[in-house]
This record gives sequence, structure tokens and C-alpha cells, in this order.
Amino acid sequence: MAPFSERISAGATGAEELAAELDSKDPLRSFRDEFHIPPHAGGEQRYFCGNSLGLQPKAVRGALLDELDDWARLGVEGHFHGKHPWMPYHSFVRESLAELVGAQPSEVVAMNTLSVNLHLMMVSFYRPTKERHAILIEAGAFPSDRDAVESQVRFHGFDPATSLIEVEGDEPDGTISMAALERVLVERGKEVALVLWPGVQYRSGQAFDMAEITRLGHAQGCVVGFDLAHGAGNLELKLHDSGADFAAWCSYKYLNSGPGAIAGCFVHERHARSDRPRFAGWWGHDQSTRFKMGPNFQPTPGADGWQLSNPPIMALAPLRVSLDVFHRAGMSRLRAKSLQLTGYLEALIRGRLAETLQIVTPSEPERRGCQLSLRVVGGRERGRALFEYLATQGVIGDWREPDVIRISPAPLYNSFDDVRAFADAVAGWHPGQGQAA
Ligand SMILES: Cc1ncc(COP(=O)(O)O)c(C=O)c1O
Repeated sequence: MAPFSERISAGATGAEELAAELDSKDPLRSFRDEFHIPPHAGGEQRYFCGNSLGLQPKAVRGALLDELDDWARLGVEGHFHGKHPWMPYHSFVRESLAELVGAQPSEVVAMNTLSVNLHLMMVSFYRPTKERHAILIEAGAFPSDRDAVESQVRFHGFDPATSLIEVEGDEPDGTISMAALERVLVERGKEVALVLWPGVQYRSGQAFDMAEITRLGHAQGCVVGFDLAHGAGNLELKLHDSGADFAAWCSYKYLNSGPGAIAGCFVHERHARSDRPRFAGWWGHDQSTRFKMGPNFQPTPGADGWQLSNPPIMALAPLRVSLDVFHRAGMSRLRAKSLQLTGYLEALIRGRLAETLQIVTPSEPERRGCQLSLRVVGGRERGRALFEYLATQGVIGDWREPDVIRISPAPLYNSFDDVRAFADAVAGWHPGQGQAA
């Protein structure tokens, strides 16, 4: 049990004092002021939805206006003479993106959106043969991931019924043990061309040991890639050291880069000069000869070589701002605060709300990130009613069918008092309030 349990069991006053004490000692507390917290009833929302859409850094508006001004003032010359010239713009986020995910700068690139990048990666890294044709994913994967892998399997002329292997959860709340994954890999690994695994599973909030999964997959001769939609900006990632072949993530969740933000991609340096097939476009062409406009595609070494188009500057500007915030806060300090915030949330639920909420997410801190996935005791209708009641109180989580409320305190802008307010709101709920029509 988290170390907070004793003070919480002293009741609401103990929890409130503890929250105030933890907030006053939080070395990252000033970062909250760098974000727009949506208003509620004359105050601010208690916003726990950073795992879906992160909040807006206040500096984003100015960064976008800078680009609009340069475009108005300079026209095409903005590519070279803007405040942040557009031609090399994507390289302005390279160092901080690499730092964030534990990669070398040449291993990362900001481009496209997540599902697009997963497809581009699979074009190169899912090369099925008659013997080794399958993709291995977790059962209950995010629909877009499942759609993407299923369509890749079909694209290569195989049948998902035999070439899509889904690992079922074997733990009481449906989470997946490493032993279960290992069992499937040992039994069927020789059929598996690609393991595509989440860093953090979107519904359960379970975090996985990526280095170990890579080791197990590689031992069977599989390529191993990760979807880090819920991992980037949440966990302290060490992508290079994990040995993963590739990874892709979006930037609108923990990375606070806005709705539909430009996504990220990692390709391990051992593939930097890969001659694997790829879908090409001029922005992936070697920079030194790109504008010679020749007919022969020569990929830029590293992740940049998978780019297709010149990047959307209006989408890169918020990412640049956001990564600067992460750089200043530091991912290890953010993770340290996150462990406390989510530990405090867990302790409040176990200590005060156990009759209402059951935690689905693993309790071991190393097996989860910010998010706790919560099932409401009594079933789906009761769950929806609580979820809707919380929204009326300005407590914003999200709902995932069939019966999960996800609550995700983000260490950049959530306070311990936010978490305390969530618990008080749940404790003040009487079934019947917020009942779905
Ligand atoms: C795990 C996971 N995969 C894929 C997606 C789809 O992302 P996009 O719409 O950016 O392609 C999401 C979006 O929330 C996600 O959480």
C-alpha cells in the first residue's frame, strides 16, 4: 500500500492536509501556471484527461502567432528568414524529442499522425513470409491499431484469422503478465513476423517492460515495435536501450501539443541505413541533394528517411513549445511526481472509496503510468451515472466502453489537491445522481 494510507484513514481532513503539504513541497508546482486550466463554476476544472487530450500550454498561442506573422511578412522567404525558419523547422524539435523518449537524435522524427506512422513503420518492418506471417498484439488493442494491423495482414494476402495473434489477459482484471506473453511467443514465435505492443495499454493503464518484451521477441526472431500513444510524456522511456526496432506515438495526450497534433516516430539506429522497402516522399530524401530534384530516391540516414512531406509548421509550433516545457521540467522529475500523484490517488480510492471504485490498473508502480482505470462497483449504468455526475462537478475523466472510467493525473499541471477533490466528489455521490437518461 502507498505510504499515504495512514493519514488518509484519518478521514477527509487528513487527506486535505496531506494534499496541501504535498503540493507545497512539489518542486514542479509552478508548471501548472504555464497551462490553461479549463474553467468551471467560477473556478477551474479538475482535469484528469491528459491521457486523451493534454491541456494547452499558454506559450502555444504566441508561437502560432509568430508563424502567422512570418508568413504574412515574408511569404515564401519564411522558409529561410523566419524567426524559426520553416526549412529546418522539424530539426528544432529533434533534441528534445530524443531526450523525452530516451533515443539518439537521429533515431526520432516528428511527422504525420500516429496511425499513419504505424502503417509507414509496418511497410518497412512487417515483411511476412509463408512461414513467418503473423502480427502479435494484445487482446483489446485500441481499435485503430487493430484496424491497422488487420489491414496490413490482408494487404500482404494473409488472413487475420490465422495471421493476427492476440494475447489475452491472464490476470484477475484482464491485465497481461509477462509470463503469458512469453508463453505465446515460445509457442508461436516462429510464425510471428512482428510484435506490436503498447508501452501503456489505453484501457487498463498497464505499463510494460519494453526492454524485456523486445528481448523475448528478438529471441524468437521477430521484429518488435511499440505504440507509445500512452507512454510518451508519461513514462521515463529508454527507447534506444530497449533495443526496439521502431516506435510511434501521438502528441496530443501527455505531450500537450493540441488536437490532432503532429506525431512522433523512432527507428533504432541499427536500421538507420536500412535497405528495407519503404514508402518514400521527397522529404525523406537526403537533405544534401533533395533540391537537385533528381529522379533517384536516396533516403536520409536515420528516422528522417521515413518522412514523406514537408512538415506542417502550424502543427510543429505547439510541439516545439511543449517539448521545451518537458525539457525544463525533466522527465525523471515528472515521473517521480507522477508516482506520488497516482500513488496518492490509489491510496484515497483504497482507503475511502473501495465500496464504489475498483482499480483495474496494476498496483505495482513500475507496471503503470499516470492513469488509473476504475470500474464502478455495481455495473455499467452505475458507472455512467458516476461519470456524468463527476462532470457536473467539474471533475473531468473519460469513459471507455464497456465500463471503465479513466483518471489520469498529469504531473505537469495536476495538483495533489485535484486528486483530493476527485476523491471528495466520488465520496459525495449518491447513486441516482447523474443517472444516464
Ligand atoms: C493506443 C492508440 N493507438 C492509436 C490511436 C489513434 O491515433 P491517431 O488518431 O492519432 O492516429 C490512439 C488515439 O487515441 C491510441 O490511443
